[in-house]
Amino acid sequence: MADINLDQLQNGTPVKIEKDGKTICLTRVGDEVFAINDTCSHSDASLSEGEVSDYKIECWLHGAEFDLRTGVALTLPATQAVETYAVTVDGNSVTVEI
Ligand code: FES
Repeated sequence: MADINLDQLQNGTPVKIEKDGKTICLTRVGDEVFAINDTCSHSDASLSEGEVSDYKIECWLHGAEFDLRTGVALTLPATQAVETYAVTVDGNSVTVEI
């Protein structure tokens, strides 16, 4: 079953969802959708409230940037990656694989 419909995701505007006890930040970039753990690896901030540019998301709290594709922390103060999850897009159905 789909977690969300593709047309509910606006380009570059992250959406927070809950699945299997995890809080996930879903971000659409063009026709691709990326899923990362919603909690910043630096401290307790919700990444879905951050700013997206290209394939990067910036934590609103202290400004660390993460790569949406890999979860890697690109800038300080974060040094650890956030977990990423595979996403399947089938027509309008978006499913996060956990
Ligand atoms: S909580 Fe995200 S950079 Fe500090």
